[in-house]
Amino acid sequence: MCGIVGYVGTRVATSVLMNGLRRLEYRGYDSAGVAVLSGGKMQILRCRGKLSALEALLAETALPGNLGIGHTRWATHGRPSDENAHPHKAGPVAVVHNGIVENHVALRERLQAAGCTFSSQTDTEVIAHLVDEALAKGPKPLVTAVCEALAQVEGSYAVAVVSDLHPDEFVVAKLASPLVLGVGEGEVFVASDAPALLEYTREVIFLEDGDVVAIRADQVEIMDLAGKPIVRAKKTITWTAAQAEKAGYPHFMLKEIHEQPRAVSDTLRGRLLPDTNDAVLGDEELPEVPKRVVILACGTSYHAGLVGKFLIESTARIPCEVDLASEFRYRDPVVGPGDLVVAISQSGETADTLAAVKEAKGRGATTLAICNVVDSAIARVCHRVLYTHAGPEIGVASTKCFTAQLAALAVLAIHVGKRSGNLKDADAAALISELMHIPAKMTETLQGLTGMKELARKHVHARDFLFLGRGTSYPIALEGALKLKEISYIHAEGYAAGEMKHGPIALIDDGLPVVVIAPLGKGYDKVLSNLAEVRAREGHVIAVATVGDKAIAEYCQDILWVQDAPHLLQPLLTVLPLQMLAYAVAVARGSDVDQPRNLAKSVTVE
Ligand code: BG6
Repeated sequence: MCGIVGYVGTRVATSVLMNGLRRLEYRGYDSAGVAVLSGGKMQILRCRGKLSALEALLAETALPGNLGIGHTRWATHGRPSDENAHPHKAGPVAVVHNGIVENHVALRERLQAAGCTFSSQTDTEVIAHLVDEALAKGPKPLVTAVCEALAQVEGSYAVAVVSDLHPDEFVVAKLASPLVLGVGEGEVFVASDAPALLEYTREVIFLEDGDVVAIRADQVEIMDLAGKPIVRAKKTITWTAAQAEKAGYPHFMLKEIHEQPRAVSDTLRGRLLPDTNDAVLGDEELPEVPKRVVILACGTSYHAGLVGKFLIESTARIPCEVDLASEFRYRDPVVGPGDLVVAISQSGETADTLAAVKEAKGRGATTLAICNVVDSAIARVCHRVLYTHAGPEIGVASTKCFTAQLAALAVLAIHVGKRSGNLKDADAAALISELMHIPAKMTETLQGLTGMKELARKHVHARDFLFLGRGTSYPIALEGALKLKEISYIHAEGYAAGEMKHGPIALIDDGLPVVVIAPLGKGYDKVLSNLAEVRAREGHVIAVATVGDKAIAEYCQDILWVQDAPHLLQPLLTVLPLQMLAYAVAVARGSDVDQPRNLAKSVTVE
């Protein structure tokens, strides 16, 4: 999730571009750059680091010109560096891009065979070479060359292209990544998101998938990839820029909860291969089929690891252990060659997880990082990396990175399962097909979660909460309790439902809200009897249940409905109402939801 901007008009392009990028820095901040055209001459400035580093460069070297494009990066392919920063240049062309070119390896090989030289590790650079290749075939409008190039690209993109052969225009295109046009008097603004252009205009056009736009200061032509003209309606935005950064949501956490379908589909993108019933980890294979998997993590990532155990053991039939990194590192652990140690960390910087995976690597284990930040410490120290593509997570309480981690663990389970020979084609095909439907089911589930405010009001003064679940719902009970603790400061405990009668049942009375995760499928009947035990002791039951479940209503006071899914993938849905419940209770209690007390987004000290 990067931020791109573009401008043509009468203002100094760099000031418009930099103002826009500042407003988009929440989308990515590991490197940045601009390309500006003046008198048919293009100048590019780009560098690793926060936007302030680029500002320093621009302070030394002013770039004159009223037309340009800019980018602030959240690396997905190629670590943050000067050469991987956008814009990427090829011949007269420069490109900035937000998205993932899934077939970049094949395109790069073809272009290299045709004599192109690449200067970065990014997927984006192939687009610059494809446009350059199209222009080299003979004089043509820039938009035509861009359409020819994008016709070869698989994946997602919001892309802006300039060429010093076309000094008065630039071209943008959109597929699965956001892009909005701002139309002013004799000037046009483009950005990944509205915050970047609200300072200049509130008249915007939200582009749709497949749109390609040729832009001049006094003219905007929208068309499809075949060049067929398209008309898009103008809208007037009423939000403030700050509101727009949260896409109109009151908090980043709520925005990130609603970004989960996209975060999961971007994390699965290019990794599930339905044609061959397989899953790939990106460009890297595991060196060997592990005889055992050990997962290390902290906090919410640890709960993702607990779901990962189910995914790996039942799909790959390989033993999988999950350990708290802070415990593992001091336990003189029994780990070594033949073991695959998976370190899960959103930030990739958590000290305990970093130390634990170094410990395992030192003992000869193969190490794989599942991280959301490219080139972070844990990603750098591990033999292999499987990046989640959730984009920057601003809210301290992790939400979209959690479900993206579950998606990555499902990919890993299929990958190992196929290579261990334990996962049959038919089972792989079924799991892959179900996984591909999950983003849409997440959207449906989130849309169905109405009445959270009223439910939260009922429990705003609760002293304690108990969360119960069985099987893959047990880690979700732990995660639901953690979310509530993190942002509402209410004491909450997650427990295996089967364990309830061995202790926590003593806590139950009419004052205790008990959240029971009870989706249809494996263990459902057992959970129903746990529900009855709670009801019998006057506990206030809030059930997470599968849409269409006719039996559950008599066992509970409130129901949070989720779409149906197979047991292994239910956590990607059942966690959603628990995130929303914690959020609603925290808001009702007036907590600082995005920056809760005593917590940090990443704990880099022991
Ligand atoms: C805590 C965060 O500091 O670290 C949690 O507040 C997070 O949200 C935990 O789950 C682990 O972080 P990471 O980056 O290693 O997943």
